[in-house]
This record gives sequence, C-alpha cells and structure tokens, in this order.
Amino acid sequence: MMTSQKRILVIGSGGREHALVWKLSQSPRVSKIYCAPGNSGTATLATNVEIKANALESLKDFALAKQIDFTVVGPDDPLAAGIVDLFRLNGLRIFGPTAHAARLESSKSFAKDFMMRHGIPCAQSRVFSDSKEARSYCDSATYPLVVKADGLALGKGVMIVEDARRARDAIYKLMDERILGSAGSTVVLEEFLEGTECSMHALIDGDSILVFPDAKDHKRIFDGDLGPNTGGMGAVSPCPALDDTLRQQVRTEILERFLKGLRADGIHFNGMFFPGLMLTANGPKVLEFNCRFGDPETQALLRRLKSDLLDLLEACEQGCLASIKPAWDERAAVSLVLASGGYPGNYQKGKEITGIDRASKIDDVVIFHAGTTYEGGRLATNGGRVLSVTAMGAQISDAIEAAYQAADCIQFENQQRRNDLAERCTTRW
Ligand code: AMP
Ligand code: GLY
Repeated sequence: MMTSQKRILVIGSGGREHALVWKLSQSPRVSKIYCAPGNSGTATLATNVEIKANALESLKDFALAKQIDFTVVGPDDPLAAGIVDLFRLNGLRIFGPTAHAARLESSKSFAKDFMMRHGIPCAQSRVFSDSKEARSYCDSATYPLVVKADGLALGKGVMIVEDARRARDAIYKLMDERILGSAGSTVVLEEFLEGTECSMHALIDGDSILVFPDAKDHKRIFDGDLGPNTGGMGAVSPCPALDDTLRQQVRTEILERFLKGLRADGIHFNGMFFPGLMLTANGPKVLEFNCRFGDPETQALLRRLKSDLLDLLEACEQGCLASIKPAWDERAAVSLVLASGGYPGNYQKGKEITGIDRASKIDDVVIFHAGTTYEGGRLATNGGRVLSVTAMGAQISDAIEAAYQAADCIQFENQQRRNDLAERCTTRW
C-alpha cells in the first residue's frame, strides 16, 4: 500500500458528496478533505469551503493554494464546463471526464448519435433544432412520446406526453419560451419505453471497465411512479429486477460497446460512467448516459463498498483499473431521500429538522445530508432533497425496513418521501 498522505477536494453539496466524503475519510491514505461548497453533513468530516461547484477558476486557485493532491467532482455541470481540463492544464490531479467526453451526458443528441452509430440499444428518436419542424412532427408521432431537452437540466428536461397537443406545448415551452434556457434549444423526441428502470455504474479508464453492483433509482416524486421526475427519490442496490443473464447482457451490449465506441471515435473517457437503463420486453435499453456518480445511487453503492474508494479513483485516473479488484458487501443497501414540500418545483426552505440523532442510532443506518444548513444553532432544510437515509440488510426488504424505521424518526414540516421503494420491480424476494 502507498503510504503518502493525500489532501483531497470534493466538489458539490448533495447527499452524493456527503457519501463521497464519508467514504474517502475512511481511507488511511487521506490526511485532509475539503468540500466545496459542501453541506452540514460534509462539515462533520471535512472543511467546507465557500466556493460554488461551477466557479471553476476559484476552485482551481483554491486547489493550487492548498496543494490539493486529488480532486473528486460530484455534479455534472462543472464536468461539462471543463473543470477536468482546467485542473489538468494547471498540473492538478482530478477524477472525472474532460468536457469533450462529458458531452456524452451534457448533450442528449450527441449521446443518441453515439448510441446509434455503435449499436447500443436505445429508444428510436428524432432530433430537432427548429421548433416549427419539431411541432409539425408531433402530428405523425406515436404516443406517449418523450420530449427531452438536449442539455443539462437537473432532471427537469424530460417530459412524457400523451398526445400531440401536449407534445407541441412541451416543445413550445422548451424551444420558444426557453424555460430551461439554452438546454432546450435542441430537443430529442423519443419513443416511450416501458419496463423497469435501473442503472449500472462503472469506472472507465479508457482501456478497462470496472463494474459496480447495480442499483435502481426512483425518479418520480410520488408513490407508484407518479408525478413529475426528480433528481431521484431513493435507490436500492442490487436492483431486484436484474438477474445474472440481464447483467451480462448490459455488460456486453451496453458497457463493452460503449468502450469500443469511445475508441472508434477517439474519445478518451476517464471517470465514472453510468447508463440509465430501461429493462424492456426486448432487452435492456439506454435512456441516457451519465458521466459521474449518481445521486442517490452513490449513497447506497458506497455503503456496499468494502475497499478504499481513493484506491479505486486513483487507479482509474492513472489508467490502471485492470490491477484493482474491489470487495463488496453482499448485503443489500437502500438510500431513501427525504425531500422538501414543493420539490421538484419551487420548494420551501428553513424548516427545522429534528430526530436525526435518534435515527442514526438504528443498526446499520447512516444518514447523509443534502439540502441542510445550521441556522442559529438548529438544523434546517436548505434544498429540494434534504437527507438520504441509508441502511443495509441481508435482503433488500430488511434494508428497506431499517431505512423507513430511521426515516420515521426524522421530522420537518411538509416532508415528502416515497413509501414504495423497490415495490414496483419484478422482485426476487
Ligand atoms: P433521462 O434524463 O433521459 O434519464 O430521463 C429522466 C427519466 O425520464 C428517466 O429516468 C425515465 O424515468 C424517463 N424517461 C426518459 N426517457 C424515456 C423513454 N424513452 N421512455 C420512458 N421513460 C423515459
Ligand atoms: N439519480 C440519477 C442521477 O444522478 O442522474
């Protein structure tokens, strides 16, 4: 084992970043962690720094001034804006893809073109950058239809519409009213896929793929997969709907074709990659590419990782993933999001949070903070997704029971949560 002590910077402020800080803080090779900007949870394990995740120059100056040895980026926007390129240009080591490679997430039309050219199974689609043309296509489209903004939109860029009138309306909002700004200047109109969603995280160093255990996110705000999409309301790992045959199919038809496609297109991808997948009657199909750790999947996945996370991330960044074999906890993990009233629309802030101490005492429960802040000595809500309650169990049902037992201890006004994690999957238990 290498002995030199590392100074780490984690960028972001959500539950994912608290989980990354929590796991990195367990490494014997880490001497100091900074988190920019962080939250009340990261503050207990790291020094929070008041620099926003998209303030690239300030982050670079900070990393140089503090002699940061290794930076880990949580959210997608700094990656798309070129934080990896900027840090490397300044001799700083950083985990994640360059802006060029991150386009596979930041432009859905770019990703779609990549999938089609490299035989990666996905929904049929058409791309439009002219609003009138997109709206006239609605007359001949099949419904439901999926209308997607091309660019990054914090999980708000996808609308599933039932008829041509609603499709035209969604297109008008994205392309003419620009409700999501330039993210909606191009749209992807896509076939609606039915099935169970899941995701498979994998580290990619350009040559090798290191596949993590699978997970299932819950995107919709309400039970029964109803209501608008969110950033993710909860995750379970493993995904109950996957068996070994399907896992192998995802590996060969999606991950390996992705790697081959990268090589063919001359894209050097280094970092975390996870396709959002729909398990359809015709096999697994890709909904989107993500070029970073998922939130709330990471909170569940890192509970299952027994090995040193820094070893994995450094091996990836140095291009020697093939030499690493992490150990995973065989038990299942759950991460349940507690969200503010109003989320994913305009949400309320400043609501006092109570009961975390009691919840944390339950066996195998760890609570990660997302949108929280200390206000006048009390913990209060400060974001859409407030907390991720994680738990482990021999079976998913055991982990779920512990997570809900812990969540029941935590109170804040107008709290929202899903009460049906994993229920809508084809179950193995
Ligand atoms: P995306 O950002 O593309 O992953 O889309 C967000 C969510 O919208 C996904 O997690 C799915 O729940 C849903 N979605 C996206 N594309 C499709 C599709 N082609 N068919 C059905 N649902 C979709
Ligand atoms: N949970 C899905 C995502 O991070 O995009």
